[in-house]
Amino acid sequence: MTHAIIGFGKIGQALSKSFARNGIDVSVATTRDPDSFAAEAAAIGPSIKAVSLAEAINADIIFLAVRFEAHSDVAKALPNWQGKIIVDVTNAYGVPVEKLRDHPSAKVVADAFTGGTVVKGFNHLAAGTLGQNPDVKGGRRVVFLASDDEAAATKVGALAEELGFAPVNLGGLSEGGLLVQARGDKWGKLIFEDLVKFD
Ligand SMILES: NC(=O)c1ccc[n+]([C@@H]2O[C@H](COP(=O)([O-])OP(=O)(O)OC[C@H]3O[C@@H](n4cnc5c(N)ncnc54)[C@H](OP(=O)(O)O)[C@@H]3O)[C@@H](O)[C@H]2O)c1
Repeated sequence: MTHAIIGFGKIGQALSKSFARNGIDVSVATTRDPDSFAAEAAAIGPSIKAVSLAEAINADIIFLAVRFEAHSDVAKALPNWQGKIIVDVTNAYGVPVEKLRDHPSAKVVADAFTGGTVVKGFNHLAAGTLGQNPDVKGGRRVVFLASDDEAAATKVGALAEELGFAPVNLGGLSEGGLLVQARGDKWGKLIFEDLVKFD
Protein backbone atom coordinates (compact mmCIF):
# COMPACT_ATOMS: atom_id res chain seq x y z
CA MET A 1 0.00 0.00 0.00
CA THR A 2 1.43 3.42 -0.93
CA HIS A 3 0.33 6.67 0.70
CA ALA A 4 0.10 10.33 -0.22
CA ILE A 5 -1.14 13.51 1.41
CA ILE A 6 -2.50 16.24 -0.84
CA GLY A 7 -2.11 19.54 0.98
CA PHE A 8 0.87 20.40 3.14
CA GLY A 9 -0.65 23.07 5.38
CA LYS A 10 -1.52 22.64 9.05
CA ILE A 11 -3.29 19.28 8.66
CA GLY A 12 -0.99 17.90 5.95
CA GLN A 13 1.99 18.58 8.19
CA ALA A 14 0.27 17.13 11.28
CA LEU A 15 -0.44 13.91 9.34
CA SER A 16 3.14 13.89 8.02
CA LYS A 17 4.42 13.92 11.61
CA SER A 18 2.47 10.71 12.30
CA PHE A 19 4.03 9.01 9.27
CA ALA A 20 7.50 10.26 10.23
CA ARG A 21 7.13 9.11 13.84
CA ASN A 22 6.50 5.57 12.60
CA GLY A 23 8.97 5.58 9.69
CA ILE A 24 6.17 5.04 7.14
CA ASP A 25 6.75 6.46 3.64
CA VAL A 26 4.35 9.14 2.43
CA SER A 27 4.40 11.53 -0.51
CA VAL A 28 3.16 15.08 0.03
CA ALA A 29 1.90 17.42 -2.69
CA THR A 30 0.44 20.89 -3.09
CA THR A 31 -0.20 23.08 -6.13
CA ARG A 32 3.45 24.19 -5.87
CA ASP A 33 6.67 22.84 -7.33
CA PRO A 34 7.81 20.16 -4.84
CA ASP A 35 11.29 21.72 -4.73
CA SER A 36 9.73 24.72 -2.96
CA PHE A 37 8.76 22.65 0.12
CA ALA A 38 11.11 19.63 -0.12
CA ALA A 39 13.29 20.92 2.74
CA GLU A 40 10.24 21.52 4.95
CA ALA A 41 9.03 17.96 4.24
CA ALA A 42 12.47 16.43 4.88
CA ALA A 43 12.70 18.35 8.17
CA ILE A 44 9.69 16.39 9.45
CA GLY A 45 11.42 13.10 8.71
CA PRO A 46 13.21 11.05 6.06
CA SER A 47 10.04 9.12 5.17
CA ILE A 48 8.27 12.33 4.00
CA LYS A 49 8.83 13.10 0.32
CA ALA A 50 7.65 16.24 -1.50
CA VAL A 51 6.29 15.34 -4.94
CA SER A 52 4.12 16.85 -7.67
CA LEU A 53 0.36 16.40 -7.56
CA ALA A 54 0.67 14.20 -10.69
CA GLU A 55 2.99 11.87 -8.78
CA ALA A 56 1.00 11.90 -5.53
CA ILE A 57 -2.13 10.56 -7.20
CA ASN A 58 -0.29 7.31 -8.00
CA ALA A 59 -0.66 6.31 -4.33
CA ASP A 60 -3.23 3.72 -3.17
CA ILE A 61 -4.42 5.72 -0.15
CA ILE A 62 -4.59 9.49 -0.62
CA PHE A 63 -5.33 11.90 2.22
CA LEU A 64 -7.24 14.96 1.03
CA ALA A 65 -5.92 17.73 3.29
CA VAL A 66 -6.98 20.82 1.37
CA ARG A 67 -9.76 23.32 2.10
CA PHE A 68 -13.14 21.76 1.26
CA GLU A 69 -13.59 24.28 -1.57
CA ALA A 70 -10.43 22.93 -3.28
CA HIS A 71 -11.57 19.28 -3.39
CA SER A 72 -13.00 19.56 -6.90
CA ASP A 73 -9.70 20.98 -8.27
CA VAL A 74 -7.84 17.97 -6.85
CA ALA A 75 -10.50 15.60 -8.24
CA LYS A 76 -9.81 16.91 -11.75
CA ALA A 77 -6.30 15.42 -11.57
CA LEU A 78 -7.68 12.02 -12.65
CA PRO A 79 -10.68 11.20 -14.86
CA ASN A 80 -11.31 8.05 -12.83
CA TRP A 81 -10.14 7.23 -9.29
CA GLN A 82 -11.04 3.56 -9.42
CA GLY A 83 -8.95 1.44 -7.05
CA LYS A 84 -7.98 4.45 -4.94
CA ILE A 85 -9.04 5.32 -1.42
CA ILE A 86 -9.47 9.01 -0.70
CA VAL A 87 -9.36 9.86 2.99
CA ASP A 88 -11.46 13.01 3.29
CA VAL A 89 -9.88 15.10 6.06
CA THR A 90 -11.71 18.29 5.01
CA ASN A 91 -14.21 20.13 7.17
CA ALA A 92 -16.94 21.92 5.25
CA TYR A 93 -17.68 24.27 8.15
CA GLY A 94 -19.28 27.48 6.89
CA VAL A 95 -20.02 26.09 3.42
CA PRO A 96 -23.69 26.90 2.66
CA VAL A 97 -25.86 23.77 2.72
CA GLU A 98 -27.26 24.68 -0.73
CA LYS A 99 -23.73 24.40 -2.15
CA LEU A 100 -23.64 20.81 -0.87
CA ARG A 101 -26.97 20.13 -2.62
CA ASP A 102 -28.20 19.25 0.87
CA HIS A 103 -25.84 16.21 0.97
CA PRO A 104 -23.31 15.33 3.71
CA SER A 105 -20.01 16.96 2.69
CA ALA A 106 -18.17 13.64 2.28
CA LYS A 107 -20.84 12.50 -0.21
CA VAL A 108 -20.09 15.63 -2.26
CA VAL A 109 -16.40 14.73 -2.15
CA ALA A 110 -17.23 11.12 -3.13
CA ASP A 111 -19.23 12.39 -6.13
CA ALA A 112 -16.30 14.54 -7.28
CA PHE A 113 -13.77 11.68 -7.12
CA THR A 114 -15.47 9.56 -9.77
CA GLY A 115 -14.85 5.84 -9.29
CA GLY A 116 -12.84 6.34 -6.07
CA THR A 117 -13.75 5.21 -2.57
CA VAL A 118 -14.05 7.83 0.14
CA VAL A 119 -13.32 7.28 3.82
CA LYS A 120 -14.10 10.28 6.02
CA GLY A 121 -11.58 10.51 8.82
CA PHE A 122 -8.72 12.11 10.76
CA ASN A 123 -10.69 15.39 10.57
CA HIS A 124 -12.21 15.79 14.03
CA LEU A 125 -9.10 17.09 15.84
CA ALA A 126 -7.33 20.42 15.57
CA ALA A 127 -4.02 20.09 13.71
CA GLY A 128 -2.01 20.82 16.86
CA THR A 129 -3.58 17.80 18.56
CA LEU A 130 -3.53 15.47 15.53
CA GLY A 131 0.20 16.10 15.09
CA GLN A 132 1.07 14.98 18.63
CA ASN A 133 2.13 11.48 19.57
CA PRO A 134 -1.19 9.56 19.86
CA ASP A 135 0.22 7.47 22.70
CA VAL A 136 -1.50 9.21 25.63
CA LYS A 137 -0.89 7.87 29.15
CA GLY A 138 -0.73 4.30 27.86
CA GLY A 139 -3.85 4.67 25.71
CA ARG A 140 -4.19 5.59 22.03
CA ARG A 141 -5.83 8.74 20.67
CA VAL A 142 -9.04 7.92 18.77
CA VAL A 143 -9.58 8.81 15.12
CA PHE A 144 -13.07 8.39 13.72
CA LEU A 145 -13.62 6.79 10.32
CA ALA A 146 -16.77 6.56 8.22
CA SER A 147 -17.35 5.08 4.79
CA ASP A 148 -19.97 3.45 2.62
CA ASP A 149 -17.30 0.88 1.74
CA GLU A 150 -16.50 -1.40 4.68
CA ALA A 151 -13.34 -2.84 3.06
CA ALA A 152 -11.88 0.64 2.48
CA ALA A 153 -12.66 1.66 6.07
CA THR A 154 -10.87 -1.49 7.26
CA LYS A 155 -7.77 -0.64 5.18
CA VAL A 156 -7.65 2.94 6.49
CA GLY A 157 -8.27 1.59 10.00
CA ALA A 158 -5.23 -0.67 9.64
CA LEU A 159 -3.15 2.32 8.55
CA ALA A 160 -4.47 4.38 11.50
CA GLU A 161 -3.30 1.58 13.81
CA GLU A 162 0.15 1.59 12.16
CA LEU A 163 0.26 5.34 12.81
CA GLY A 164 -0.46 4.66 16.49
CA PHE A 165 -4.11 5.76 16.63
CA ALA A 166 -7.17 3.84 17.81
CA PRO A 167 -9.62 3.91 14.86
CA VAL A 168 -13.34 3.93 15.62
CA ASN A 169 -15.59 3.09 12.66
CA LEU A 170 -18.82 5.11 12.77
CA GLY A 171 -20.45 3.36 9.78
CA GLY A 172 -21.80 4.94 6.58
CA LEU A 173 -21.23 8.54 5.48
CA SER A 174 -24.92 9.38 5.89
CA GLU A 175 -25.24 7.38 9.11
CA GLY A 176 -22.71 7.51 11.99
CA GLY A 177 -20.46 9.47 9.67
CA LEU A 178 -22.71 12.53 10.09
CA LEU A 179 -21.22 12.92 13.58
CA VAL A 180 -17.90 14.00 12.06
CA GLN A 181 -19.19 16.23 9.27
CA ALA A 182 -19.83 19.93 9.54
CA ARG A 183 -23.06 21.22 8.06
CA GLY A 184 -23.44 24.94 7.41
CA ASP A 185 -22.36 26.67 10.62
CA LYS A 186 -22.80 23.54 12.77
CA TRP A 187 -20.03 21.10 13.65
CA GLY A 188 -20.73 17.36 13.81
CA LYS A 189 -21.20 16.33 17.44
CA LEU A 190 -17.93 14.35 17.64
CA ILE A 191 -15.75 17.06 16.10
CA PHE A 192 -13.18 18.34 18.63
CA GLU A 193 -13.90 15.42 21.03
CA ASP A 194 -10.34 14.33 21.85
CA LEU A 195 -10.82 10.77 23.11
CA VAL A 196 -8.26 8.17 24.18
CA LYS A 197 -8.90 4.42 24.07
CA PHE A 198 -7.42 2.01 26.62
CA ASP A 199 -7.24 -1.64 25.54
N1 LIG B 1 -6.38 23.23 10.68
C1 LIG B 1 -7.04 22.37 11.44
O1 LIG B 1 -6.89 22.35 12.68
C2 LIG B 1 -7.98 21.37 10.81
C3 LIG B 1 -8.52 20.35 11.59
C4 LIG B 1 -9.32 19.36 11.00
C5 LIG B 1 -9.60 19.43 9.65
N2 LIG B 1 -9.10 20.47 8.90
C6 LIG B 1 -9.43 20.51 7.47
O2 LIG B 1 -8.27 20.10 6.76
C7 LIG B 1 -8.19 20.79 5.51
C8 LIG B 1 -6.86 21.51 5.44
O3 LIG B 1 -6.80 22.47 6.48
P1 LIG B 1 -5.44 23.23 6.83
O4 LIG B 1 -5.71 23.98 8.06
O5 LIG B 1 -4.31 22.28 6.75
O6 LIG B 1 -5.36 24.27 5.58
P2 LIG B 1 -4.09 25.06 5.09
O7 LIG B 1 -3.09 25.23 6.19
O8 LIG B 1 -4.62 26.29 4.40
O9 LIG B 1 -3.43 24.10 3.98
C9 LIG B 1 -4.09 23.78 2.79
C10 LIG B 1 -3.09 23.09 1.89
O10 LIG B 1 -3.77 22.70 0.69
C11 LIG B 1 -2.92 22.99 -0.44
N3 LIG B 1 -3.79 23.12 -1.61
C12 LIG B 1 -4.77 24.03 -1.84
N4 LIG B 1 -5.38 23.79 -3.02
C13 LIG B 1 -4.77 22.69 -3.54
C14 LIG B 1 -4.96 21.94 -4.73
N5 LIG B 1 -5.90 22.27 -5.64
N6 LIG B 1 -4.15 20.88 -4.95
C15 LIG B 1 -3.19 20.52 -4.06
N7 LIG B 1 -2.98 21.20 -2.89
C16 LIG B 1 -3.76 22.28 -2.65
C17 LIG B 1 -2.21 24.26 -0.01
O11 LIG B 1 -1.01 24.42 -0.71
P3 LIG B 1 -0.77 25.50 -1.85
O12 LIG B 1 -1.84 26.55 -1.75
O13 LIG B 1 0.60 26.00 -1.60
O14 LIG B 1 -0.86 24.68 -3.09
C18 LIG B 1 -1.92 23.94 1.46
O15 LIG B 1 -0.73 23.19 1.56
C19 LIG B 1 -9.40 21.74 5.49
O16 LIG B 1 -10.44 21.16 4.76
C20 LIG B 1 -9.77 21.90 6.95
O17 LIG B 1 -11.15 22.18 7.13
C21 LIG B 1 -8.28 21.42 9.44
